[in-house]
Amino acid sequence: MTKLYIDSKQKEGFINPEIYGHFSEHLGRCIYQGIYVGESSEIPNTNGMRNDVVEALKEMKVPVLRWPGGCFADEYHWKDGIGPKSDRKRMVNANWGGVVEDNSFGTHEFFELCEQLGCKTYVNGNVGSGTVQEMNEWVEYMTFDGESPMAGLRKKNGREKPWRVDYFGVGNENWGCGGNMTPQYYANLYRRYQTFVRNYDNENPIFKVCCGANSSDYEWTEEVMKTCAYKAPDHLHCFMDGLSLHYYTLPNGDWQHKGSATDFDESQYYTTLHKTLFMEELVKKHSRIMSKYADEDKVSLIVDEWGCWYDVEPGTNPAFLYQQNTMRDAMVAAINFDIFNHHCKVVRMANIAQIVNVLASVILTEGSDMILTPTYYAFHMYRHHQGADLLHTNLTGNTDVGIKEEEQVPKITQTASVSSDGIINLTITNVSTDQPENVSVSMEGISNFEVIEARILTGKIDEYNIFEDRNVVSETDFNGYTANDGQLSIELPPCSIVLLRIEENK
Ligand code: AHR
Repeated sequence: MTKLYIDSKQKEGFINPEIYGHFSEHLGRCIYQGIYVGESSEIPNTNGMRNDVVEALKEMKVPVLRWPGGCFADEYHWKDGIGPKSDRKRMVNANWGGVVEDNSFGTHEFFELCEQLGCKTYVNGNVGSGTVQEMNEWVEYMTFDGESPMAGLRKKNGREKPWRVDYFGVGNENWGCGGNMTPQYYANLYRRYQTFVRNYDNENPIFKVCCGANSSDYEWTEEVMKTCAYKAPDHLHCFMDGLSLHYYTLPNGDWQHKGSATDFDESQYYTTLHKTLFMEELVKKHSRIMSKYADEDKVSLIVDEWGCWYDVEPGTNPAFLYQQNTMRDAMVAAINFDIFNHHCKVVRMANIAQIVNVLASVILTEGSDMILTPTYYAFHMYRHHQGADLLHTNLTGNTDVGIKEEEQVPKITQTASVSSDGIINLTITNVSTDQPENVSVSMEGISNFEVIEARILTGKIDEYNIFEDRNVVSETDFNGYTANDGQLSIELPPCSIVLLRIEENK
């Protein structure tokens, strides 16, 4: 039997809410149709944003949103997306299918969306094809409160007060679509560009994100850190607050034949989970290199693209990256969340790719219709960990499950945290395709408690929601537990995530 020990008094780090962050790119039907439909649309909207999508996202709790890309960011010229919409430039979205980008969603619309969602902002600047001046002026346009050409332009376009930019990315994937640069070349460009990302609001300085590695490219991390953070002679010169990391789970490990989102067998399921677990090695190895140059409280890891990447749904535009989302994706999300939570001292933010209609989305839309995916429910159940303190846990008796000898994965994964109001949040996942698991939980530091909320997400590994049947998989109440004399016993069905919220009786 699996035993979980939770020490309710031993806190092991703060789970930054942004670990549950999202990413929205001008790609396929993510921004256009998925989120933004324009004020004149028949789809109910507020200032152009779909009411149904915004409501669902608010309920799920979006802490931060990254925009405008992705690869799109390094071809985006922000001045094309401001001013009267009829005057905005129409351009080619060369990265994503060569479709026309009419720039009707730009800077003002992004901040409007974040205001509606009540989330922090993460703007990604253009290093690949943009100038230093362009980046400098964008920051001035967004954040300067005084009198200046860009602040004046912003006011002319209807926004008196500056916005708050919480995070700013200086380029994206500059080792690839963002300019095919070497780490040495990018690192020097980064130092130059970030100089002109000015902090006009000293009380809320912009958190600068330097472009980090593709998966296990440790040389990139080493070179970039070496150039952008060093001690000379006694003083730390550090030009960044965060270094990004992109890692996608590819079920077949092959970009040409990624595999179907919905049509897979048990063996492929476990392969997918096994590949997802590689995230932990990446977090450990990259952060170890980073710590040679700057302490973890100086530079954090920003996993600003993660999730499963499959073949597109048959019959859809290959450049739009539209894929379905099954219970397998919810398991992948739970595994990643638990890795990020357990490494919350180094991981400050993570952004699933992407929020609506692209890759591992939490929402899919078709015209005026919308469905929530299993990944949505995983985010929804884990939302209680946002801004909570990670608790010390010890799991014993956990077995490995899988088909292939070399691709076994731990059956149970979990996170326990305590919120500022003292409530303990436990999310516990059984990834087995067919075996239930009984977990006995003992709580150190609390003798008398009550479970105040219990929820479950469960289903067959390849189940998913469709527009004709939107509740095949959804979060429901859970009663498969007993709580007696300070002991908690949980019966986890196969392929399930359980949330228990526990309050001490005083
Ligand atoms: O999320 C899709 C793409 O994946 C992003 O645009 C890019 O940064 C990454 O390669």
